[in-house]
Amino acid sequence: MSDKLIIFDTTLRDGEQSPGASMTKEEKIRIAKALEKMRVDVIEAGFPIASQGDFESVQAVANTVKDSTVCGLARALDKDIDRAGEALKGANSARIHTFIATSPIHMEMKLRMSPDQVVEQAVKAVQRARRYTDNVEFSPEDAGRSELDFLCRVIEAVIEAGARTINIPDTVGYNVPEQFGGLMRNLIERIPNADKAVFSVHCHNDLGLAVANSLSAVMNGARQVECTINGLGERAGNASLEEIVMAVRTRQDIFPCDTTLDTAQIVPCSRLVSGITGFVVQPNKAIVGANAFAHESGIHQDGVLKNRETYEIMRAEDVGWSTNRMVLGKHSGRNAFRTRLQELGIAFDSEEELNDTFARFKELADKKHEIYDDDLQALVTEVNLEAENEYVKLVALKVCSETGETPDARITLRINNEEQQGQSRGSGPVDATFKAIEAVIDSGADLQLYSVSNITSGTDAQGEVTVRLERGGRIVNGQGADTDIVIASARAYINALNKILAAAERAHPQL
Ligand code: KIV
Ligand code: ZN
Repeated sequence: MSDKLIIFDTTLRDGEQSPGASMTKEEKIRIAKALEKMRVDVIEAGFPIASQGDFESVQAVANTVKDSTVCGLARALDKDIDRAGEALKGANSARIHTFIATSPIHMEMKLRMSPDQVVEQAVKAVQRARRYTDNVEFSPEDAGRSELDFLCRVIEAVIEAGARTINIPDTVGYNVPEQFGGLMRNLIERIPNADKAVFSVHCHNDLGLAVANSLSAVMNGARQVECTINGLGERAGNASLEEIVMAVRTRQDIFPCDTTLDTAQIVPCSRLVSGITGFVVQPNKAIVGANAFAHESGIHQDGVLKNRETYEIMRAEDVGWSTNRMVLGKHSGRNAFRTRLQELGIAFDSEEELNDTFARFKELADKKHEIYDDDLQALVTEVNLEAENEYVKLVALKVCSETGETPDARITLRINNEEQQGQSRGSGPVDATFKAIEAVIDSGADLQLYSVSNITSGTDAQGEVTVRLERGGRIVNGQGADTDIVIASARAYINALNKILAAAERAHPQL
C-alpha cells in the first residue's frame, strides 16, 4: 500500500509574493475554490498579520472552503499567531504555520538572536499556536543552509511542543537534489521523536531545482510537498504543483506514495491562476504549457498515431486538456446551457445570474458559431468580473482604425450610474481605447503589463487580455475576454481600474 503524499498549495501566500502577482480577496476565493475542487489537502491562504487585506482574505477563504484544510502563516511571534488564529476561526479544518530562521546568517544578521533564543522562541510559538488548533506546522526558515545538529535540536523541541508537521524549506533555492534528499533522510533518522510528525518540503527555484529537490526529499521520507500552481512564488518561484503531482503519479513504479488529487483539474486551475495574475504560462512548460502534448515532428506524429505511448508518458485528458468538443451553438437552449455548465462544475447562486450569463452566451454565439468548453469557462469568468466592477462599467466603444490614419476611440462608461463619454487618438486601437478611458477617469495609474492570449484556436476565437496597472505602489491585474480584442482590452483595463478604485475606497471610505 502506497503512502499518502499531502499536497500543500501556497499559491495564495508564497505565490502571491511574486512581484506583480497580488490578488484581490474575490480572486483568492476563486482560486481557493478551484484548489478545493482539485482536492488539494492544505491551502495556505495568506499571512494574516501582513495587512488587513491579507487577514480578510484568509478569513474569507476559511469561511468558504469546506473540504481542504485552510492554513495561515505566522512568524514565531504572539501577535502573528493570534492574528492567524483569529482569521482561521471559521474554518472547518484550520492549520497555523509558524516559522523562524535557523541558518547562521539569518540568525546573526536578520534576527540578531542566539541559537538558544531561536529554540526558545520556536517552542513558545508552537505552544501558542496549539491554543487555536492541534494542526500546527513549524518551518525552520533557510533550513537548506542551516547546520544539521542545530536543525535536529530545534525540530525535536518543536515536535515536543506539539508541532505535527515539520516543513524543511530551501528558502533561497541553494540546494541540489542528492544533498537535499540526504538532509531529509538524516533529519528523519536522527530526530528521536520524528515519528510524531509529518515531514514536509518547501523548495524555491533559484537554480531551477525546486521540483527535483522536492522529489528527492519525497524519496527520502517527506510526505508533504509545498508547491504552487504554475510554480508561482518569490523570485524564481516555488516547486510547481502540476510537475510534482504528475511526476509522482506517472512514476508510481519508483515513488512509495501518491496524492489523492483530481489531476483533471490541473489545466483549468493553471489557466485560472495565469489569467488572474497575468503571468503567462510558457508554451513549453511541463504539463500545462500549450505545447506540452503537441507533436510537431513527423516521426513523433506517426508514432503517436500508431500507439500514443511511443511518445506520450501521460494522457493530456488526465491533466485536464479538454478535447475541446463543440458543446453548444446559437440554437442551444437555456437547459442545455445550464446542464453543460453543471457538467463543468459551474453552479449559479441565483436564476438571475444564470439568465445574465445565458444572455452573454447568446451574444457570443451570434459572433462565434462553435462554443467550446473553454469559451464557456471564459464567459462565466467574464460575467463574474463584470459583477465585481463596482465603480466603472463599459457601456459602448467605437474604434476607427484605418491605414494611414491615426486610430480614434470613443467610449461611454457608466460611473456611479451616470454615463460619461471620452474620446482619444492613439498609436493603435488599444492605445486609443485606454487613452479614451483615461480621458474620463484620469486615474493616474501606470500601465505595467498588457498581454493577449487566445482561448481557443481560429480567427473567431475569443481573446483573453490581462492588464496590470500600478498606482501609489499598489499593483492590480484586470482581465477581459471577447471575440473583439479591442473590446476585451477595454474590459481588462476597466476591471483593473475598478480594483484600484476599490482599494482607494477601502483606504479612505466615504463617510
Ligand atoms: O521560503 C520559505 O522559507 C518560506 C517559509 C515561510 C516556509 O516561504
Ligand atoms: Zn517560500
